[in-house]
Amino acid sequence: MSVNHIEMRNIYKSFGAVTALHDVSLELQAGKVLGLVGDNAAGKSTLMKILAGAIPPSRGEILIDGKPATYSSPIGARESGIEMIYQDFALVPELTVAQNIFLGREITRSFGGIRVLDRKKMNERARKLFSSLGLRVPSVTLSVQALSGGQQQAVAIARATGFDARLVIMDEPTANLGAPAIEKVRDTITGLKEAGVSVIIISHRLEDIFAIGDYMMVMKQGRVVGRRDVHDTDNAEIVEMIVTGQDPRRAGKAVA
Ligand SMILES: Nc1ncnc2c1ncn2[C@@H]1O[C@H](COP(=O)(O)OP(=O)(O)OP(=O)(O)O)[C@@H](O)[C@H]1O
Ligand SMILES: [Mg+2]
Repeated sequence: MSVNHIEMRNIYKSFGAVTALHDVSLELQAGKVLGLVGDNAAGKSTLMKILAGAIPPSRGEILIDGKPATYSSPIGARESGIEMIYQDFALVPELTVAQNIFLGREITRSFGGIRVLDRKKMNERARKLFSSLGLRVPSVTLSVQALSGGQQQAVAIARATGFDARLVIMDEPTANLGAPAIEKVRDTITGLKEAGVSVIIISHRLEDIFAIGDYMMVMKQGRVVGRRDVHDTDNAEIVEMIVTGQDPRRAGKAVA
């Protein structure tokens, strides 16, 4: 078993009468970028929320380096090195950029025997983090609600990538971004990959997956349609799989 091995096995998820996931398994390739694609309601976000500890599966398990994962919250997943950037970024609008970066892992100092937040240190560290990632925000002491969509995206990326993650999950990282910001996101993903971090991108923009992804998984209505190496497929085949929910290489063949 290699280092940094993450696997989801036979995952099911129901929300009342809705079956969001039906027997989905996924084995990640360490240090590679997986594109998770599929139409609306395919179950992509649900699958990733389960991996990130935000919601529990109805059935199935997650294995990390061969051992069943025991976390049951995003903080627990983060302690296992799994970070997720949500579709809506999940930032706290009223808090500053630096406070959002350190949410749940605040730096404190002793003040007359009690622990207080060390804002100065968090601001300094946040500034350093942004410059090391090549991301830009006007000021780390501004509240996040004052930022543009692209700048909020930068904060979410910095929060997820700045702290020794082994897996970073990005839900629609380039939706609503302009071309320069998309370029920045792509650079960040390439940088993570070079650092040996595994990345999962959920995206409706197949061109992003073909540009920076290594392999893909197609889903429809809670099921896995098929998997491909990006170098062994093309846009037309993936679109066909997304739309029909069938894997053309399996059509008419007995399932092995
Ligand atoms: N909290 C919830 N309560 C009830 N149903 C939910 C909940 N979350 C997701 N679902 C349902 O589960 C199914 C899968 O949703 P999910 O958000 O995972 O799809 P998705 O592939 O991410 O779609 P999109 O591309 O639109 O983001 C949908 O039918 C959705 O309505
Ligand atoms: Mg989604």
